Amino acid sequence: MQEQKTYYITTPIYYPSGHMHIGHTYTTVAADVVKRFKRLTGYRTFFLTGTDEHGQKIERRAAEAGMSPKAFVDGIVRDTQDVWRLMGIEYDDFIRTTDPRHERAVQKIFKKLYDQGDIYKGAYEGQYCAQCEAFWTPSQLKEGNLCPDCGRGTELVREESYFFRMSRYQDWLIRYIEEHSDFIQPASRANEMLQNFLRPGLQDLSVSRTSFRWGVPVDFDPEHVIYVWIDALSNYITALGYLSEDDSLMRTFWPADVHLVGKEIVRFHTIYWPIMLHALGLPLPRQVFAHGWLLFNNDKMSKSKGNVVYPRPVVARYGADALRYYLMREMPFGADGNYTNEAMMKRINSDLANDLGNLLSRTVAMIEKYFGGTVRAPGTYLDEDRALIALAEALPEKVEEGMDALQFSQALGEIWKVIGACNRYIDETQPWILGRTEEGRERLATVLYVLTECLRFVTVLISPVMPGTQQKIFAQLGVSDEGIKTWESLAAFGRTPAGQRVWKGEAVFPRIDISVDLPKLEAENELELNAGKAAPAPSGEEKKEQVSEKVIGIEDFQKIRLRVARVLGCEKVEKSDKLLRFRLSLGDEERTVLSGIAEHYRPEALVGRQLVLLSNLAPRNIRGVKSEGMLLCAGGEDGSALQLLTVDGETADGADIS
Ligand code: MSP
Repeated sequence: MQEQKTYYITTPIYYPSGHMHIGHTYTTVAADVVKRFKRLTGYRTFFLTGTDEHGQKIERRAAEAGMSPKAFVDGIVRDTQDVWRLMGIEYDDFIRTTDPRHERAVQKIFKKLYDQGDIYKGAYEGQYCAQCEAFWTPSQLKEGNLCPDCGRGTELVREESYFFRMSRYQDWLIRYIEEHSDFIQPASRANEMLQNFLRPGLQDLSVSRTSFRWGVPVDFDPEHVIYVWIDALSNYITALGYLSEDDSLMRTFWPADVHLVGKEIVRFHTIYWPIMLHALGLPLPRQVFAHGWLLFNNDKMSKSKGNVVYPRPVVARYGADALRYYLMREMPFGADGNYTNEAMMKRINSDLANDLGNLLSRTVAMIEKYFGGTVRAPGTYLDEDRALIALAEALPEKVEEGMDALQFSQALGEIWKVIGACNRYIDETQPWILGRTEEGRERLATVLYVLTECLRFVTVLISPVMPGTQQKIFAQLGVSDEGIKTWESLAAFGRTPAGQRVWKGEAVFPRIDISVDLPKLEAENELELNAGKAAPAPSGEEKKEQVSEKVIGIEDFQKIRLRVARVLGCEKVEKSDKLLRFRLSLGDEERTVLSGIAEHYRPEALVGRQLVLLSNLAPRNIRGVKSEGMLLCAGGEDGSALQLLTVDGETADGADIS
């Protein structure tokens, strides 16, 4: 028996320093699409994603949130897995760098490299900024040896460190990249690596740290923790059981077929990682593919700039498939592109509601109207039928070509060409006229058969990008035989059996009224952004731990100013389901505050009440309104009622609460 072909694809492992946004979603959806396509075409697949949890940044973020690093990342990891589930992501494994299986294997990798002389112990000397915990090179320092980040003075520090002899492998890697033109894609990235990093010469890399603790300790020298990139890159093999008792996955799936990475981390994946693998005596991944960034107003999304889009609100409104389609269709994989909700909605309307949705609903409606809902066997094909059939028959190969080159947009474009041709075919054959006569109906049976069969081709081929839609369309077309949902079943046109019973259902993609939906979606994203800025939602257990952990001194409490605020006016924010706009009196001052409690209170019932306001919160712009403070509430979790805090009896407006 021939052995099944295998395919191994990975995403980067994401930093769980905040909630996953649409940029992370982009890479993960792309990997999921490839995995599903390869599975469809007969491969045994393995798709790995996960989280990169160690390092100083995470340690700091956790401390700021008053949590232990592990409790901090646990909350975000849970949320990440939840978002991937919502997005229909079917990973085979989710590796966390805090998994004991990973930590043990990383220690072994480090030891092996040390034992064979690739890693040696040395010392790192340089100007060090204690405030920023960072070394700076002479060219980075500001005049007078000042730290370029915080402007404070730096000192000359010598720190022990382990180093990886990168320089040893430089010539080998240059040759490897030159001889394997597919290894780094797009090719321009390979040139960049050669010119900017490899040809100028590699320095030995410092691969351990003693300045913080949140990492994998070097087991034979526990003062040191292993440099995060050595730790993180190893995930691609530790997940397969490398150097563990059971390395059967390693034997089956390594080398990876492709590592998908954002363009900013190509260097790590095409210089450090190949050198590590080569030193370990392992083959290199077949390809590292660098995709571009999703931009927001031509700027990279970043939480600190407040320009981040999250997937949840989009999925809640339009479903995962619409977002998956948009991400894969809008821009060529490899290039940067702007993300806007408006462009997304327009595409859903034109490609999904109009082109695909109408084709399906027209076809099914006509089969119901003219043939009592049953697909008839076709008669003799005419030229116009043959032309469309030829397009459908040529489609699988074109889609495969696009998918293999990770050109999702191109593959989908080919599918939509056939959808467009089907819609034109309806216009040209004019079924509504054919349906009027007995003779015309004979012809109509053929036309509707061709359309049904073309829709079957389209539906099988969109399934990796839109798995949920596939099910909905097949339900309406009445396709129940699994045998005609396969890739192999597309080898020949005409597998739809006569007598198949169609069922007209709801529109697969209802049209969006953009002017109504856009402001709502943006307000929902704003709420998600604010939730994401806070520490991750802890589980019940952790919450208890956290409350007792988060002991603060009175000086911390004194930073907070709570005041009694009287509601002068309150109204719903237009086009938002959640937001109320309050006009509040603090005695000698009026404030505007927005609060996301519209689902819990009628605005008019609140006028005149005295509430509790966190008054020294930095003002924020929400939907163009400056909100100056936060009204305190209790409850609201797990569906419980949300209650605004108030004072027990009449108090002066603006009175301080202490
Ligand atoms: N932890 C490292 C990767 C280690 S891999 C061994 C890391 N993590 S990250 O959380 O910063 O995520 C990086 C990846 O997220 C990028 O490489 C990219 O795949 C994706 N993206 C994050 N923001 C993005 C956009 N705005 N647009 C597209 N992809 C983006 O780096």
